[in-house]
Amino acid sequence: MRVVIQENYENMSKWAANYIAAKIRAHKEDRPFVLGLPTGSSPIGVYKELVRMNQAGELSFANVVTFNMDEYVGLPREHDQSYWYFMHDNLFDHLVDMKPENINILNGMAEDPEAECARYEAKIASYGGIDLFMGGIGVDGHLAFNEPYTSLSSRTGLRALTTETRLVNSRFFGNDMEAVPKYALSVGIGTVTDSREVLILINGHNKARALAKSVEGGVSQKWTCSALQLHQAAIIACDEAACGELTVDTYKYFLDIEKDERL
Ligand code: GLP
Repeated sequence: MRVVIQENYENMSKWAANYIAAKIRAHKEDRPFVLGLPTGSSPIGVYKELVRMNQAGELSFANVVTFNMDEYVGLPREHDQSYWYFMHDNLFDHLVDMKPENINILNGMAEDPEAECARYEAKIASYGGIDLFMGGIGVDGHLAFNEPYTSLSSRTGLRALTTETRLVNSRFFGNDMEAVPKYALSVGIGTVTDSREVLILINGHNKARALAKSVEGGVSQKWTCSALQLHQAAIIACDEAACGELTVDTYKYFLDIEKDERL
């Protein structure tokens, strides 16, 4: 696993956007580049930078297919807290050459959630899998909406949200936890780790414990993000603030080995 430590959120975002852009540009195969995407506050800086590059003519999304990680159950697309809305508001609506038919987001209003999740997995497979899955994590280490004790080989499915996650996310629902949906559809940990590459953004003091557990703890279903340790090409891009609970030798090791990657 690589851990790329950047000084602050802005640099972390730029580094991750540059990494993604380089992968899209380098993709020369006779099939689209398949990109997995998250929501949340963590990726907003990356999305801003990708939009800037796209509008400046430096990066095309014409040959990119996207799959989002998750979606709340019961929120219609037009709801300003649906992940469909978030993605269009923060990324897709601003890209000059993104094809709407290449955007894939789980339908949280589906009458048959199981069928919807099976369809999603099949569609990912139909493109030959995901090239690069970008993600964020929750303070409890959840990857997508795979809360603690979700199987590390889980596939896309219906997930119950923990009280902690609903409390954390209530900031987007007028601080009313009851307004936060209790369920979500989410790709599984296995879905993410099947991707050829995984890039996870971890920033801020409140993620320090989750970062330490992801990197230094054992692989455990209690910290579902720790499954990254078994992936052959996983990168964590983080800021200094999130490093607060790493041991000094871990922190120094990654700074040393990645020193040329520091912006
Ligand atoms: C939600 C999403 C996750 C996301 C997490 C972190 O719970 N389902 O995919 O990673 O929030 O959000 P933030 O980046 O705002 O801390």
